[in-house]
Amino acid sequence: MDRISDDQLLKLAREASLKAHAPYSAFPVGAALLSSDGTVFTGCNIENASYGLTICAERVALFKAVSEGVKDFDTLALWAEKPSWPCGACLQCLAEFAPDLRVIRLGEAGVEERSLKELLPLAFHLPSATENERE
Ligand code: THU
Repeated sequence: MDRISDDQLLKLAREASLKAHAPYSAFPVGAALLSSDGTVFTGCNIENASYGLTICAERVALFKAVSEGVKDFDTLALWAEKPSWPCGACLQCLAEFAPDLRVIRLGEAGVEERSLKELLPLAFHLPSATENERE
């Protein structure tokens, strides 16, 4: 079977945004995360009256995938009324599993793409045990 198109993935992200719980910001966001095996995991932002407990759409999609045993990813499609790129916290979580991820969104001129490395060039990774020993 052919791989899902960017347009289809963005459509899934937009559909996921309809499930957002965003009464405080009124900024619904949807994410669709395409795994290397072709499975798509979607997520929406889920806000809380205790604002800091809010979780972004991207992390919902990522955590759904990882909790199902899926850890290799190809593309993340993001949808919001005003196009945005993932926040720093989500980029760091994505970098844990998918340093070579493509991130796409629908801009005014069409599909826009960035790599995760462009969006978060210096992601944090725990120094390896050997590096720790050297210090
Ligand atoms: N939000 C996301 O879902 N993804 C992002 O990358 C940035 C922000 C959500 C969090 C909050 O519910 C709303 O957008 C406004 O910040």
